[in-house]
Formats: sequence, C-alpha cells, structure tokens
Amino acid sequence: MTVDGRLGGRLIALGVTGSIAAYKATELIRLLAAEGADVVVMLTPSATRFVAPLALEALSGHAVESDVLALLPDGRIGHIVIADTCDAVVVAPATASWLGAMANGLAGDVVTATCLASSAPVVVAPAMDGEMYAHPATTANVARLRDTFGYRIVEPEEGPLASGQLGVGRLAALPTIVAAVVAAIGDRPVRTADPAVRPARVAAPRPADLAGRHVVVTAGGTREPIDPVRFIGNRSTGRMGVAVAEAALARGAEVTLIAAGVSVDLPAGAAIVAAETTAQLRAALLSALGGADGRAGFDALVMAAAVADFTPIAPADTKLARGAGLRLDLAPTPDLVAEVVRIAAGLDSAGASRRPLSPRPIIVGFAAETGSLDRAAGKLQRKGLDLLVANDVAEPGSGFGSETNRVTVFDRDGDREAWPLLPKRDVADRILDRVVRALDERDTMGQTEPIEQESQR
Ligand code: CTP
Repeated sequence: MTVDGRLGGRLIALGVTGSIAAYKATELIRLLAAEGADVVVMLTPSATRFVAPLALEALSGHAVESDVLALLPDGRIGHIVIADTCDAVVVAPATASWLGAMANGLAGDVVTATCLASSAPVVVAPAMDGEMYAHPATTANVARLRDTFGYRIVEPEEGPLASGQLGVGRLAALPTIVAAVVAAIGDRPVRTADPAVRPARVAAPRPADLAGRHVVVTAGGTREPIDPVRFIGNRSTGRMGVAVAEAALARGAEVTLIAAGVSVDLPAGAAIVAAETTAQLRAALLSALGGADGRAGFDALVMAAAVADFTPIAPADTKLARGAGLRLDLAPTPDLVAEVVRIAAGLDSAGASRRPLSPRPIIVGFAAETGSLDRAAGKLQRKGLDLLVANDVAEPGSGFGSETNRVTVFDRDGDREAWPLLPKRDVADRILDRVVRALDERDTMGQTEPIEQESQR
C-alpha cells in the first residue's frame, strides 16, 4: 500500500459477478493499486467459474470473499468487515442477474450483501449482451440503482460482444471505471486507515533468503525499577520488533527475540528471552553475542527495543509511601548497541584490542525522534551501525503502538532513503531486504573484515 496516487490509503471493495468480462478484474486490481488503493475482492458464485480466486488473492493481497455465510479466521463476518471499512464498492462487471438482485435488495451473495451493509459510495459497471442491457427489466433495475440508491453507473460501451454480435454491453474501459471510483469518493476522509480493522492481508510468499542465518531482535521497552511496584518505562509496545521477528522467521531465519516490556503477542517459532531492565537486556545481548571462541553468536541484530536512557541509582527494596514527595537520582544507562558493535569489532570493555568477531554481524538500530530526523545520521556514525531506521513518532500513523510506520533509513555509505507509510510488517520486510544484502556483501568481501571503530564514546 502506498499513500501516493488518487486512491492513496483507500480500501476499495471490488465486486466481480459472473460475466465473461470477469477476467478483466485482474487488470482492474492493478490499476486501482497503481493509484495507491488497497483492494479486496468479492466474487459471486458464478464469477468463480470465470476467474480463479487464487489469482485475485495473489494480486490483491487479501483473501477473496465468495461465501456470504463465511467468517474470517478471527470470527468476524467477512462482508460486514468489508462494508464497514471500505472507501468505495465497485461492481465490475455487473451482470443483468446481479443488477436485478441488487435492485430488489436480495442479499444472496457477498457483493449484494456488502452493498446493502455499507454506507460507502457504490460504482456499478454493467456488462452483458446488448439485448439484455436494452431490456426494460435491466433498464428499470439500472435506473433504480442510480436514481433511488444513488449508485454511480459506468455505462457499458458499444463493440463486439462475447456472443459475436455487435451492441452496447461491453464493460466500460477500465481507466473510466477507476476515474468513476475516484469521483465517487471525492474528498471524503479515509474511513479506516488501521489495517487491524480492515480485512487482514495475506502475507506475500517470501524467499527463504535468511535460511541458515541467526537473527537476534530486541523488542519492547525496558522498565527501570523505582521500587518493587513502580518503574520508569516508555510507550513502546514491541509491535515493530515483533514484526521484524515474524518476518525473519517467515524468511527461514533462526530467530532469538529478546523481549523487554512487549504488549503484543510473541511470535511462535522464535526463541524468546525475557529481559525487563536495561541491565537484563544487556546481559541477554552479550550472552547471544558470545565470542569466547572468536565467533559471533548471530549474523544480524535488529535493535528495535526502546532502551531507557536513565535508571534509578538506588531502587527501593520496599514500596515507597506517598509521603511528602519523591526525588529520584538517575544514572545514564550504557549504550547497549554501541557496546555490541565495539565487542564485535574486537574491543573489550576496557577498550583493549583483540580479534574482531567472525563473521562480522550486521547491526541495525532504530531511532524514535520527534520533529526532525537531523540527528539520525550522526547517531548511526556514533554507534557504528550498518543501518539506522529513524521515524518521527509525533507523525500520525507512525507512533508507538500504531500498525503502520513511516521511516527513513540511513546506511554506512551516508545514503538515506525515505519509505512511504507502510504496515509495520512491510517495513520489517524492507529492513530485512537490506540485512540480506549486507550479509551477502559481507560474505563476498570476506568474513573477518574488521568494522570501523568509530562507535567508541
Ligand atoms: N540504544 C541502546 N542502548 C541505550 C539507548 C539506546 O542500545 N541505552 C539503542 C536503541 O535500541 C536504538 C538505538 O540505540 O536501536 C537508538 O536509540 P536512541 O534512544 O534514539 O539513541 P540514544 O543513544 O538514546 O540517543 P539520544 O538519547 O541522543 O536520542
């Protein structure tokens, strides 16, 4: 999903009914997606005889709805979820039979049921034999949809028809249908931008390009104890780190997820290490890094955890009473990712040189900034990272707990790349694309190349 284009960020429900022109649905999905739309497809039972649901699922990235009685895996009613979340319904091609059902409110298939249940604008593009389109029954049904229901009709065109005859009945040109959808939506606000509320996307199949790699991901926010019941924490939910762990698993990696305070479900298949405080996170990281035998314990570290910058110097052993007030003395925490980079580069904690760990791990940091990303490139240099994923958490759709993220990625070569607003899983896969590239380069260049030691501070 991109936010550019005339349908950026919109969910369009495409209803396909049983006409020979149903095959054009594939191209219509492509055109709608090129305008930035997220498309979910609904088929009437007869449409499934013209087009394979699997092809439409692969193209749209959503499971195809074809059974009006079917429930989604999460128990929600498929066509109601579509009706409630879509920005427009477009029925193309619409057969004479479907027009008749719709004009009479007969909700026997998912497309009519969705139209009945939705307050979104509806665009209808009929396609059929010329005589059928000219029949008074069809004319009356079309008029009812247009004049009583307020649906926008995209008239069929004249031309050769499936019967071999010439007539008015060919599905309108696809760009004309797209333009009608754009016009029908006008400047209405996006109804539901949250992918968690929309019909779920099916994960695109990915190559197992991380098979044989060990990826360590940190997620969530650390909690620094004030007393046995209170802590200093942050707003991180762990959603981004968990998305990276899930994406890495799907690409064949062995994954260790070091979880600080995480409030989303943890992925099955990852080795989970719980770490509440910065000190525990440090211990878990150093244990995963290993290195006693000169070998790095992982191929890549994605440091998505929000690590506390300060910790109470002397947490109380018993619960503090409200009393007259409280003054906390805080000490800065060590920079964990910078320490991992230093150890991997062959420096011990006292700063003495030894052999760099082999193979050199690829290390990705995150930076949650507010207002400007100006500090990000300096942060990458200072910490000695391969990649820094920076976002402005003050921006709508990019904050803590959000399902989406708009990030800018900085790399060691000084390049920066701004990505559009994307679901966190897509951000995760793009980050892993870069990790795969960096690992391949590392392996090509020789595994023991020492990393620059600019991260000392
Ligand atoms: N990080 C870390 N240890 C810390 C603080 C941060 O390893 N004590 C990691 C984070 O997990 C993240 C990256 O460093 O991957 C950047 O975090 P950020 O909080 O933006 O960096 P800071 O070093 O805290 O910089 P500043 O306080 O100047 O914003």
